[in-house]
Amino acid sequence: MWSRRDFLASAAAAPLAIDGGTPVRSTPLRARHFGPLYYDNFEWGFLQEVLKAKSPFRFAGFNGPNPDKVATLEREFAAWMKTRYALAVTSGTAALETAIAALGVGPGDEVIIPAWTWYSCFHAVVRAGALPVCAEIDETFNLNPADVERKMSARTKVLMIVHLQGNPADMDALLPLARKRNVKVLEDVSQAVGASFKGKPLGSMGDIAAASLQVNKTISAGEGGMVYTNDPALYERACRFHDVGFLRSPHQEVLGGAKLEPMIGANFRMNEFTGAVLLAQIRKLDRVVSDIRAAARRVYNGIDGLPGLKLRKRPDPAGELGVGVFIEFSTKQKRDLFMKAMNAENVPARPPGGSAVLPVQPYIEGKRGVHANWPSFSTGRGPEIKYGAASCPRTLDILDRFAGPSLDPKFSERDTDDIVAAIRKVYPKVA
Ligand SMILES: Cc1ncc(COP(=O)(O)O)c(C=O)c1O
Repeated sequence: MWSRRDFLASAAAAPLAIDGGTPVRSTPLRARHFGPLYYDNFEWGFLQEVLKAKSPFRFAGFNGPNPDKVATLEREFAAWMKTRYALAVTSGTAALETAIAALGVGPGDEVIIPAWTWYSCFHAVVRAGALPVCAEIDETFNLNPADVERKMSARTKVLMIVHLQGNPADMDALLPLARKRNVKVLEDVSQAVGASFKGKPLGSMGDIAAASLQVNKTISAGEGGMVYTNDPALYERACRFHDVGFLRSPHQEVLGGAKLEPMIGANFRMNEFTGAVLLAQIRKLDRVVSDIRAAARRVYNGIDGLPGLKLRKRPDPAGELGVGVFIEFSTKQKRDLFMKAMNAENVPARPPGGSAVLPVQPYIEGKRGVHANWPSFSTGRGPEIKYGAASCPRTLDILDRFAGPSLDPKFSERDTDDIVAAIRKVYPKVA
């Protein structure tokens, strides 16, 4: 019988597809959006309830009492994340802006963010009129603690720890840096919903957390976001900011009454249709997480012991979500050749994705706000800060030297065997 071991051995010995050999797969393997892979009658049933009740607005029912999809989602999300409070908002970007407002960040303040992350992290700080200070990443793809320490100043108000590409940041190294300076911690968990660090759900260790539930994330209704915290004052400010300054009855009940005054705010309220889909999805989060971790484990086990192989650093491998397996190369040329050869095997490998190196974006290097005299760049250290490639050489270098396959929680054993076979075939010949 043709065993898995025979399959791997024969694949490893075969000529590469880029050299005219037979590819490992006949059709390209493609990772899909996680949340929608799990859609079934559960989401459908909750959506129909909203339609039948004619109650799409969370704070007023058609015929009386408040509907409960978003409110229940908030309770269940908070329970999953082991925080006291969770607030549903319209997107991860809205969640970041709400968290930044809850923390009272404004002109003259500095917020440390990773040089490689999603645009919204930078924009949320700038839209508050504060100054984003970019710190280098390390081989975890997350903040480099030594550079964070270097970038802290007397004006640093918040450290934004973004857990990128499913990998928990090294909270043991990062949290004390903030705590000893009285700097608040905002965790951005958008790319790692469901992951944990040493048994604690991401987002439960800082002062406040933001998460995206957009379609590329762990669970999704297409768009959506969450703000979560253990701090009642931050929660009340977040509730008020997300709803034009109000604190409506469901949130008053959670808090046991309002403690703060009305304040300036936006409208980032989640509607009941989104809440319906996300309520079904939060109840599937355990399953999505265990499926994606199982797929990742099969790949990690299959490539274990491959001579010379170096992977992305993982401060807590058991807590990683497993959205992709990333391999380190000594040069960009070798990395690019690896990607080319993997694509030819129909097992695509890609560079670290889902983010951009922000300091090299021309509008960021040019410090362009919404208005020519934007306070971020005209107050505090704004006029003197310099972005650009010279500010983040380590980040640029690391991102040029990693690549790997993206994973899908419903990849079959055959799919993950193909990933293992392709890596075992290609890596030794190009590294
Ligand atoms: C790290 C991070 N933060 C924030 C966001 C913004 O989320 P959204 O697209 O839901 O606004 C994203 C989205 O990709 C992200 O990856």
